[in-house]
Amino acid sequence: MNVLPITRFPEPLLKRPTRPVERADAAAVQRLIEAMIRTMRHHPRCVGLAAPQVGSDARIAVMDATGHPKATTTHGLRVLVNPRLEGEEGTVLSREGCLSIPDFTANVSRATRVRLKALDQRGEPYALTLEGFEAIVAQHEVDHLDGCLFLDRVANIKTDVFRRKTYL
Ligand code: NI
Repeated sequence: MNVLPITRFPEPLLKRPTRPVERADAAAVQRLIEAMIRTMRHHPRCVGLAAPQVGSDARIAVMDATGHPKATTTHGLRVLVNPRLEGEEGTVLSREGCLSIPDFTANVSRATRVRLKALDQRGEPYALTLEGFEAIVAQHEVDHLDGCLFLDRVANIKTDVFRRKTYL
């Protein structure tokens, strides 16, 4: 299976909440997850991808912050089916980017610690406490699944949004 094309802003699908997955083990869901992992790996330094970014309205994201310079500890590759975040703690302003908004980065306020609850690729529930960069990635991806982009979270568009000078 090939790498999937990336949906870019202002495609309306990116602004719509996704639909919960009923059967995580369904063949079509498995194919989508595999293709999302492949697509994430295809883009250098891409640490997360949400289904709306590849044209799907399923509540699925994948993430892997392993090896990223901002990541201290990570839980490796994670598949997030029907994820939710709770117990947010702390706040940090961090610079974010997104494959769907390739021309800009922005400073976004995020929790420094979150509890992630989701189903894995086999439909088994799991819960993880995420910290630092990995917590930020999870918040960015779950936002995608709620139809929210990082630019929607910018406090001051004049001082916190930056045009990208280099592309990875
Ligand atoms: Ni994104």
